[in-house]
Amino acid sequence: MSRVYNFSAGPAALPEEVLKQAQEEMLDWQGSGMSVMEMSHRGKEFMSIAAQAEADLRELMAIPDNYKVLFLQGGASSQFSMVPMNLLRGKASADYINTGSWSKKAIAEAKKYCQVSVVGETPAGEFTVPSAESLKLNADAAYLHYTPNETIQGIEFPYVPASGDVPLVGDFSSTILSRPVDVSKYGVIYAGAQKNIGPAGLTVVIVRDDLVGETVAGTPAMFDYQIQADGESMYNTPPTYGWYLAGLVFQWLKRNGGLTAMAETNQRKAAALYAAIDGSGFYNNPVELSCRSWMNVPFTLADAGLDAKFLTEAKEAGLVTLKGHRSVGGMRASIYNAMPEAGVQALIDFMADFEKRNG
Ligand SMILES: Cc1ncc(COP(=O)(O)O)c(C=O)c1O
Repeated sequence: MSRVYNFSAGPAALPEEVLKQAQEEMLDWQGSGMSVMEMSHRGKEFMSIAAQAEADLRELMAIPDNYKVLFLQGGASSQFSMVPMNLLRGKASADYINTGSWSKKAIAEAKKYCQVSVVGETPAGEFTVPSAESLKLNADAAYLHYTPNETIQGIEFPYVPASGDVPLVGDFSSTILSRPVDVSKYGVIYAGAQKNIGPAGLTVVIVRDDLVGETVAGTPAMFDYQIQADGESMYNTPPTYGWYLAGLVFQWLKRNGGLTAMAETNQRKAAALYAAIDGSGFYNNPVELSCRSWMNVPFTLADAGLDAKFLTEAKEAGLVTLKGHRSVGGMRASIYNAMPEAGVQALIDFMADFEKRNG
């Protein structure tokens, strides 16, 4: 067996230890005689797996007791609709910060339900986020939505927007669990699992109690936070195997020092890669220094004609899924929690060697 270093933006690499544990438990989970995949979600075995995963996530993120934690389906994209459906609560408008591709999708969906005020925006072609002072927030908005980390552009907020009494909503899909977060600043935190939590198919939603219970007319039961919370995320059959794997990832995080330790490692990994890019005359990252993502690092080569060669040779060196998003071009290295420092170093070494031969 030979494993590669996988820089995919998502679905992304999972910790090898977690995959091995899942493999060991595949046929017989802890003496139950069956795979987690085969268990009733209402049986005591799966109920214990689900409860442990929630408890571990609460501990890792220090989630206050007045927040519900939901393990849903539908991806982060379904939250683009669930957020307005549940948070409008009779109000006519919501504030959105538009920093890139994922913000735009969230805004497009919200416009189906309310008036959207774009209260801050990254100008087209720029790689930055609007400053805290420049945000034109509306005190009567139902909520303020932003994307702390834009997975495609590789930009992240160096600050948490201060929304006052207006509930703050964050699409944490590509940054959740990468460092400690003060959950109490948020009304809702949501994330598709397939980057830093587990496999695709699971969506984690952390929602403050007082924002649950009132929906816009016609909201499907599956999209109602209250119904999902009352049913402990088991209103219908939940994504059981994804939930279990997420639980294994949470245990792995706890064994490895939790989110403080993750933050230190992630910062080191990102700093090393950006230093390699900046130190070369061959590679370029377009993002303003203060907004550079720790998780997704886009970069271009001096000659785009060398892109295909770079990708082929990187693959031969065991470094895969480095092709950049079609809207940005060049390369993108996603270096989530499961990417070891050795993987980032292998990429840096390959880049230096490639530059030497082609620069
Ligand atoms: C920041 C962000 N938001 C939303 C999404 C969409 O997530 P999903 O595919 O789970 O709907 C992604 C997926 O890459 C993302 O990176």
